[in-house]
Amino acid sequence: MIARRLVFWSCLAILLIMCLVDAKSQIAFFTPGQTILDTDGNPIKAFAGGISYFNGTYYWYGEFKDGTFPTAAIVVYTSQDLLNWKYRGSIVPGLHEGELAPYVSVERPHVIYNDRTKKYVMWVHPENQEYNLGLTGVFVSDSPTGPFTLSGIFHDRGPDGGGPFNDDNRDQSIFKDDDGKAYHIFSSHKNNGLVISEMSSDYLRPSGHSIDVGVVCEAPTVFKRNGVYFLLRSECSGFGFNDNKYATADSMLGKWTDHGILAQGPNSANTFSTQVTEVVKVRGKKDAYVFVGDRWKEPLDKTLDIFLPITFTGARTLAVYWKDNWDIDSAFNK
Ligand code: GAL
Repeated sequence: MIARRLVFWSCLAILLIMCLVDAKSQIAFFTPGQTILDTDGNPIKAFAGGISYFNGTYYWYGEFKDGTFPTAAIVVYTSQDLLNWKYRGSIVPGLHEGELAPYVSVERPHVIYNDRTKKYVMWVHPENQEYNLGLTGVFVSDSPTGPFTLSGIFHDRGPDGGGPFNDDNRDQSIFKDDDGKAYHIFSSHKNNGLVISEMSSDYLRPSGHSIDVGVVCEAPTVFKRNGVYFLLRSECSGFGFNDNKYATADSMLGKWTDHGILAQGPNSANTFSTQVTEVVKVRGKKDAYVFVGDRWKEPLDKTLDIFLPITFTGARTLAVYWKDNWDIDSAFNK
């Protein structure tokens, strides 16, 4: 009898400890500037990436750096709350083999879902060691966690398919609009231009319709709020930092109006030492958008990603302020 009781109480104690450990390992706050650990306790390495939302889950795609190739792998993490991320592994098998061998660097992965073809489509920027290819790569998958297979590698051309520009495609992002149309947004003309190019309806190629916003640019990313399109971008300083800027427009291929620097307040110089990579719309909250920037650090696998809430100061104006510690409920409790 005593032995049985001992076993019972021991089991209960172990269960309690397991619950406490689990509760403790849940991350409850963003702590910008500190390493973000995944649910296995490893630092997250998904740099210069994009965060998508599919069927109730956030997917964080990014460049995994480990010192072998500039992009050792394209990886994805998943989360329900933007704080606790589970590592789901590399999503492009054979990234540096076969026809993908020339591309040591495969930058800025972003994924959208095509409702008609029922495929997840990823656009990236494949590069060689010399950094003189300036290409666009498109991959497809039946699942948001891959495996993704190559659909095509090409140059997305400048305004309306040509013109007097170099047609290099460098830092890039993609954006799917509410009407199902999708766009490729990329630095071009040796980073002296920013092209927005509408995709074909299957999201696998450019449609041929594009504009050049005409600004110096790296790391572009677009989101939409109350019918207004916001385009955030950095200037060009490699893995250094600069004052990132933003513009707005009433349509993706319309006229963009520049609004200047996005980071405001104390410590905001050089965008708090980050380079924008994404803006995430928080689901289940009104008017909640999160800025995500890379704080590049050599060796590059020591880079940190910084999450900060966006404050809207008008229908077309925003600001990002530094916070050492914050959470979604308090930041967007309006
Ligand atoms: C950065 C760019 C990165 C990467 C890097 C290479 O400016 O945003 O995506 O291309 O330069 O030096």
